Amino acid sequence: MSKQFKRTLITSALPYANGPVHIGHLAGVYVPADIYARYLRLKGEEVLFIGGSDEHGIPITIKARNEGVAPQDIVDRYHTLIKKSFEEFGVTFDIYSRTTSEIHRETASGFFRTLYDKGEFTEQESEQYYDEEAEQFLADRYITGTCPHCGNEKAYGDQCEQCGTSLSPSELIDPKSTLSGSKPVMRKTKHWYLPLDKHEAWLRQWILEDHKEWKTNVYGQCKSWLDLGLQPRAVSRDLDWGIPVPVEGAEGKVLYVWFDAPIGYISNTKELLPGDWEKWWKDEETKLVHFIGKDNIVFHCIVFPAMLKAEGSFILPENVPANEFLNLENDKISTSRNWAVWLHEYLEEFPGKQDVLRYVLIANAPETKDNDFTWKDFQARNNNELVAVLGNFVNRALVLTQKYFDNKTPALGELTEYDRDTISEAEKVKTAVEYNLENYHFREAQKEAMNLARIGNKYLADSEPWKTAKTDMERTATILNIALQITANLAIVIEPFLPFSSAKIRAFINADRLGWNNLGSFNLLPAGHALGNSELLFEKIEDDVIEKQVQKLLDTKKANEAGERKAKPVKEAIQFDTFEKLDIRVGTVLECEKVPKTDKLLRFLLDDGLKKRTILSGIAAYYPDPQELTGKQVCFIANLEPRKMRGLLSEGMILSAENTDGNLVLVAPVKEVQSGSQVV
Ligand code: MF3
Ligand code: ZN
Repeated sequence: MSKQFKRTLITSALPYANGPVHIGHLAGVYVPADIYARYLRLKGEEVLFIGGSDEHGIPITIKARNEGVAPQDIVDRYHTLIKKSFEEFGVTFDIYSRTTSEIHRETASGFFRTLYDKGEFTEQESEQYYDEEAEQFLADRYITGTCPHCGNEKAYGDQCEQCGTSLSPSELIDPKSTLSGSKPVMRKTKHWYLPLDKHEAWLRQWILEDHKEWKTNVYGQCKSWLDLGLQPRAVSRDLDWGIPVPVEGAEGKVLYVWFDAPIGYISNTKELLPGDWEKWWKDEETKLVHFIGKDNIVFHCIVFPAMLKAEGSFILPENVPANEFLNLENDKISTSRNWAVWLHEYLEEFPGKQDVLRYVLIANAPETKDNDFTWKDFQARNNNELVAVLGNFVNRALVLTQKYFDNKTPALGELTEYDRDTISEAEKVKTAVEYNLENYHFREAQKEAMNLARIGNKYLADSEPWKTAKTDMERTATILNIALQITANLAIVIEPFLPFSSAKIRAFINADRLGWNNLGSFNLLPAGHALGNSELLFEKIEDDVIEKQVQKLLDTKKANEAGERKAKPVKEAIQFDTFEKLDIRVGTVLECEKVPKTDKLLRFLLDDGLKKRTILSGIAAYYPDPQELTGKQVCFIANLEPRKMRGLLSEGMILSAENTDGNLVLVAPVKEVQSGSQVV
């Protein structure tokens, strides 16, 4: 017995505004949410579809810092780009706003304050790394050091990307702040926590007992979280990018991004409907559905509901149909490795083919497990399904009507048994699509919708109106009438999935008022109804076009591999007089030998043009036969303060180049020069 609702509030995860959106976003979240919204609207239901950009969080500040711009510049840039991509792909948000809006700041801040005043938070002090030079606490991502598991020297405070282990910053050996390069120190800091442990009991009941119908991947993740036992979660951070914690004594602290972001759904509703938003969020007759990817499950099924419940006046989600991940050509989609098909780039290469991508992504939607997008499959689905089935059927029905009936719907004559069977099969499509959509099986729903085109295709092939036209125009009229009714039904049933193609078919048949309730009717185009002009609905995609896309990805792979061997970034700029202080000279090697009882050190005796000079250099590993260096010229720093090593005085430093493989190679003039020549 499912609950009856009056209206549906659909939200889709607010994407981080630190990069453009790619096919993984569309397949996992935005196309399914859009299909659902379009379907309900087409049925005439009361529905609201909320979107927006998530504009806080550490990755945004890191990107800003790397580019030397303000975080606001980053989010302005990507918010605009993302919003445009969604519009271009026909994602019909009722509002697409952002979490840096004023109304969101007020709403999130007020929400925190309400919970604070109700005593719904606990306060805890903890020790956290602090950068004394930059004078700020360090987010985990801002700390690098050596991984205790694999020795990678560039592990982050939250994760080592070499061995994949997740870390906490205190585990790093030799931690460094990426802000100033200095060694961070531990300092006490206070934060507010949402005591999820106190919410555990009702969450268990609400999810595990009352929502057994949730998708198994969602239910399963929730169950394992709940079974592990919930812990209090910090909802504030020491950071200067975000919404200030609205409490005295919280200077320099902001709301944790995962606290403010889901409140963005509420703020955006308020922004759209200032006088009327509450019925969407506070009335039990509203059905709230969150569309998200699997990495967001815990926040939408546990943390956000706990926040809403703690606040006290909000409804909880009725369902959270989260999807798994979409891979690209067998590899995880990655923004930083540029391993993605970006929506804005797709449209440059495939202008007007939004529906092809929507179709392929839903045909392959990662509903129950991770799935793979490949260009070959993209081509095959376009050519074998969209062109050969849907496009072909619509085109044949229309062209034959033009040819035999002056582009007007012919009258229906007597029906054969085969006609009746076809009609009854076609009528079943409605229930099948509805059932699947209402249960969030978008893949299956789209398949059922396409099935209508298959039915039509088969009907034309079996009935052969081009043959009957030679002998029996009345029979031909009946066949084409049925084919046209199927075409009109197709325009309706594909609208949620392929809205651009639906609009085209509607124009072809000159019927733009058909709603979902008309689906299944065989009386949609009355006899004599004049059709519009038509053209091909889809076109074949050739091999060379696909090869170009595959090549582009191969190039990305190559670039990534080269990138891993990239030179280090240039050090901070210096003035010329700083450089001039260094006295770099060329010397000629008189003797060179390994320093006894050491692994690394070579002792050089150089003719420096003035005298004989001893310099020790830690390059023994790279020159196993040091005598061979006798007579060669090297460069050295002549004015470095001499220092004692292993009982020997080293008077300067010999210059080596560090190759990207880590090997050291002596630096020498390309032509012999007089000993003591200065490097200028
Ligand atoms: N920005 C998050 C992500 O991309 C999603 C935030 S969803 C919201 O993973 F509910 F917090 F808005
Ligand atoms: Zn590691």
